[in-house]
Amino acid sequence: MAIEVKPLDAALGAIVLGWNPKTELSGADEAAIRQALQRHQVLVFRGHAQPADKELVRFAYRFGNLIKGSEWFGDIDPVAEILRVNNLVGADGVAEGTGASSSLEWHADYSYVPTVGKESFLEAVEIPAKNPPQTCFANQYAAFEKLPPAMVEMLRPLYAHHSITGYAKDGEQELQITGAPQGAADFRESFRAKKERNARLGVARPPIPQAVHPVIIRHPDTGREILYVSKGITRNIIGMPHDESSALLKELAALSTRPENVYAHDWQAGDMVMFDTLGTLHRRDAWDPAERRVMRQLSTLWTPPAHAHSAAAAAE
Ligand SMILES: [Fe+2]
Repeated sequence: MAIEVKPLDAALGAIVLGWNPKTELSGADEAAIRQALQRHQVLVFRGHAQPADKELVRFAYRFGNLIKGSEWFGDIDPVAEILRVNNLVGADGVAEGTGASSSLEWHADYSYVPTVGKESFLEAVEIPAKNPPQTCFANQYAAFEKLPPAMVEMLRPLYAHHSITGYAKDGEQELQITGAPQGAADFRESFRAKKERNARLGVARPPIPQAVHPVIIRHPDTGREILYVSKGITRNIIGMPHDESSALLKELAALSTRPENVYAHDWQAGDMVMFDTLGTLHRRDAWDPAERRVMRQLSTLWTPPAHAHSAAAAAE
């Protein structure tokens, strides 16, 4: 059965019916999904049989090489491409996945890595029964199009530093979470526990990277320009005085997440949301830590064109 795409009555997004993750995706369906993603940026696959891990990975690989997300987050997982976004704790007392149930600020997945996320896949295995958190998506093509031309010219030569490190006072690499302070502490604790666990087991995991990217990038698939900064992960504009940089990023954060460009997704268990990681920003609400929320996340990777700041960022 061919897939069916039904646009949502929203600033972005469409429902996709008829996906069968148990079989290899047909060339026609792959093409239809690529086209729908370029048109709608967020695709909510719904009503399908739950894919096994390897079926989810097989599907995602059709759209590009995948980031080994579980390794970046210090996890030990048989399927490195799947990041377990959940608040579960293993028998060893260490978070099974990302840990925490805090809110996450607007961000683009892996913008803090030299090879950034291009498409992301986020699938709801289990969602809280009470007050399930929404995930919101903001259209960055629309954000760019509404920028005054003079501002675009001012932004075009600029580069920004993206990082989730530096949260801890002692310079240890920790995950930076804005929003609920309690949530940030939970995240830091889960990262610390994973590092201890991995050292005990002799498991090596890459350090959390950081990266410098242009403030405006051209999407490799759509050929359209987008604003590529976020409140959650972009720390400063390279070469700009701190106060000026903070003021500009604050202004861009507001412009990039105007309510009229946002779609708020209410999850149903089983939803698999594929989104244009470059062409959107996303954020999530917090939820009751006593409630389980279990998601699987994957991202394709893209290497932005090299620039003078790339090597410097990699060397930091
Ligand atoms: Fe994310």
